[in-house]
Amino acid sequence: MILQSRIISIYTHPMYVCMCHGVTDRQIKQAVADGHRDFLSIQAELGAGTGCGGCRDFTADLIDDLTQKSLSARAGELSHAA
Ligand code: FES
Repeated sequence: MILQSRIISIYTHPMYVCMCHGVTDRQIKQAVADGHRDFLSIQAELGAGTGCGGCRDFTADLIDDLTQKSLSARAGELSHAA
């Protein structure tokens, strides 16, 4: 029961990625979904990475993961459509 509530907590609470600007993983996911596909675009949109810089690597990795998933999802959709 405790494990289940922890898992639910992980998926229901946003995680702060950039503490300097209070940017969460959900904001980054939404920005990627809105068409911001690289670090510079996310940086301009949300300010992540423009303070101390401590979040830059993680933010870039998260964007890479999200855009790869988007590409994979599109590839899957295209293969189903063919
Ligand atoms: S934690 Fe993101 S710029 Fe400092």
